Amino acid sequence: MVLHIGCIPGDGIGPEIVRETRKVLDRVAEKYGHEIAYTEILLGGASIDVHGVPLTQEAIEAAKKSDAVLMGSIGGDAATSPWYQLPPDKRPEAGLLAIRKALGLFANLRPALLYQELAGACPLKEEISRAGFDMLIMRELTGGLYFGERRTTVENGLRTAVDTLTYNEEEIRRIAVKAFDIARKRRNKVTSVDKANVLDSSRLWRDVTSQVAQEYPDVELSHMLVDNCAMQLVKDPAQFDVILTENMFGDILSDEASMVTGSIGMLASASLNDTKFGLYEPSHGSAPDIAGKDIANPIATVLSASMMLRYSFDLDREADAVEEAVQKVLREGYRTGDIMSAGCVQVGCTGMGDLLAERI
Ligand code: IPM
Ligand code: MG
Repeated sequence: MVLHIGCIPGDGIGPEIVRETRKVLDRVAEKYGHEIAYTEILLGGASIDVHGVPLTQEAIEAAKKSDAVLMGSIGGDAATSPWYQLPPDKRPEAGLLAIRKALGLFANLRPALLYQELAGACPLKEEISRAGFDMLIMRELTGGLYFGERRTTVENGLRTAVDTLTYNEEEIRRIAVKAFDIARKRRNKVTSVDKANVLDSSRLWRDVTSQVAQEYPDVELSHMLVDNCAMQLVKDPAQFDVILTENMFGDILSDEASMVTGSIGMLASASLNDTKFGLYEPSHGSAPDIAGKDIANPIATVLSASMMLRYSFDLDREADAVEEAVQKVLREGYRTGDIMSAGCVQVGCTGMGDLLAERI
């Protein structure tokens, strides 16, 4: 089959981790008889440098013409990069938010699991990490505070900023349906996270998710307040299967969940709409401090590509092969610096890409 893949290297470590991921994908294509046609797309700082804006219409069209998009990471160091001298809506992050919206990618899947080989890197107490954990955060990605109306004005002589958090019931319903569908393929448990003791949007969220749950009698739904969830993630992460939550809570909780695995460099993500199309990117950022040093961990991007093979192309065998290659390399004791531990062999970004490709 011919795979039309849009490719966004982006900023910081993005170009290196995407380069290594393509190495792995090319090997998959060779082995399983596929052909990959890549279209390079500019986003974020890389687009600002060429076009003056973080996202162009041309980039949106190129993404739409692809079957799926593989992305590295975008953004730079806010203290030093000239991109952050621009107004907020012209900065790299605005491009990412805009492309998610333009492609209708309302469902963001962020799996966070503890790899047994890396259990030593887990910052939690051993009695907690021993139980292991494997959760998936289903984050709503195109609504809520990040897309509400915002403004800064002067009221009574004081600078005053307003952000608005809006959800309608259809936006809640469609993400809830995705969460319940995926829970059926996992352990049949959804924890919906909100702040229903304070926010109207959360009370609506709780109401709609409870309604959707009635269509899934085989899936257990519970509700949890977001502040409690932040605590439970470090106290007893094994209790979670699918965490369903709105945009900002999901942004924050997914970073926390990935950190408790001890290996943010390992965690993939998929942003999906209602078709087979998806945008696949690592859960981590662009790490400008280590960019270009060939020390970044490409595994999160490689695993994002495996999600792409599975969700956008229905190539389960190929996706399994990528995941097995990752397991194999870890079992053999190869590590990038971020997951290095005593007795293992440290390799760079290129070295890790080569090892993974060889094991496909
Ligand atoms: C993420 C990032 C983005 C977000 C930023 C870069 C806009 O933090 O993907 O989690 O908040 O969605
Ligand atoms: Mg984030």
